[in-house]
Amino acid sequence: MEGAALFCHPLWFICSLALLALLWIRRRKSWSPDACPVDLSGKTAIVTGASSGIGKAVALDLARKNARTILACRCSKKGQAAVEEIRRATGNPHVQLRLLDVSSMASVRDFARRFLEEGSQLHILVNNAGVTGLPFAVTTEGLELTFATNVSGAFLLTNLLLGTMVASAPARIVNVSSFRHFCVRKVDLKWLTGEELPKNASQAYDCTKLMNVLFTTELARRLQGTGVSANVLSPGIVRTEILRHYGRASRLLYWLCSPFMMNPQRGATSTLYCAVAPEVEGISGKYFDSNCRLVLPQTLAHEPGLGQRLWDALEKATGLKTDGSQQAFPVQRER
Ligand SMILES: NC(=O)c1ccc[n+]([C@@H]2O[C@H](COP(=O)([O-])OP(=O)(O)OC[C@H]3O[C@@H](n4cnc5c(N)ncnc54)[C@H](OP(=O)(O)O)[C@@H]3O)[C@@H](O)[C@H]2O)c1
Repeated sequence: MEGAALFCHPLWFICSLALLALLWIRRRKSWSPDACPVDLSGKTAIVTGASSGIGKAVALDLARKNARTILACRCSKKGQAAVEEIRRATGNPHVQLRLLDVSSMASVRDFARRFLEEGSQLHILVNNAGVTGLPFAVTTEGLELTFATNVSGAFLLTNLLLGTMVASAPARIVNVSSFRHFCVRKVDLKWLTGEELPKNASQAYDCTKLMNVLFTTELARRLQGTGVSANVLSPGIVRTEILRHYGRASRLLYWLCSPFMMNPQRGATSTLYCAVAPEVEGISGKYFDSNCRLVLPQTLAHEPGLGQRLWDALEKATGLKTDGSQQAFPVQRER
């Protein structure tokens, strides 16, 4: 009875209010690229899939921070329009378009070769290009199309540019995954080879987003001690063209929900956080949520040996191991 009376005391109410006020004042403000003072003059960044959505918003902000920004896009018309829009908005003349179809390993090789021939440094690589909703299809190179676009293209591109990134260190690799990777319940080892994926398009997408996390963790392990970090993130639910390959009903539902989604600028925040925030310096192999919080990915993402198996399968699937195109860099082996 006496205890209950204590909670009715006015001092209890005042103390609770004071505590709430303190929590409100100390609440964690979300990181904002606009408030980040980083100047990227003299630095070079590549953003894949920068012709629309999150990728374009990321490229815009990197250009605003004075980076030489390369938009790696598959469509020259859309890519050029994005370049012009970004140049106009930022006044940065060092914004360039380079053609790249990440679903084609030949195109990835061609893009990397042309970039390496320039002898330029590379400080930021954002593997953002992605698709969902495509029916099961196999490319002329024998890879499942969603897998080729979301996983193997980023794997090959990153590996072909690694030597240059190590030579340009400190440098950052940022892989755009999704909260959807949490939906994967099990991994069939056949999916890692890129020849098969779940036949359901959404499940196939979820798997590729899990592979983005596995790839990043394994990449970060291999990059220890090189000055190049690799992190992976979820941008959240963002109003973009991502559902363009879905049926009408899904797109209508998406459109009805779109007022509650983030716009691409806000959706670019966690990618930019990983790419430029001083707070992320020295952090590698981690997964960030759309509020830039370091969180644990789902358990399959740290299943022992799975990242290594994916890596081995991707080396084979992309021909990286056998064609001698991988740039050498010093790797610190785990003890
Ligand atoms: N929107 C979301 O809610 C959400 C949520 C979680 C994760 N994500 C991830 O965020 C990333 C960006 O998606 P978004 O939402 O910004 O969608 P988006 O507006 O559809 O942008 C995707 C970009 O990737 C490009 N792309 C697709 N296939 C390509 C290929 N083979 N080669 C080169 N570029 C290619 C597209 O180019 P074209 O214009 O030529 O097709 C486009 O520029 C994706 O990795 C996606 O999985 C998005």
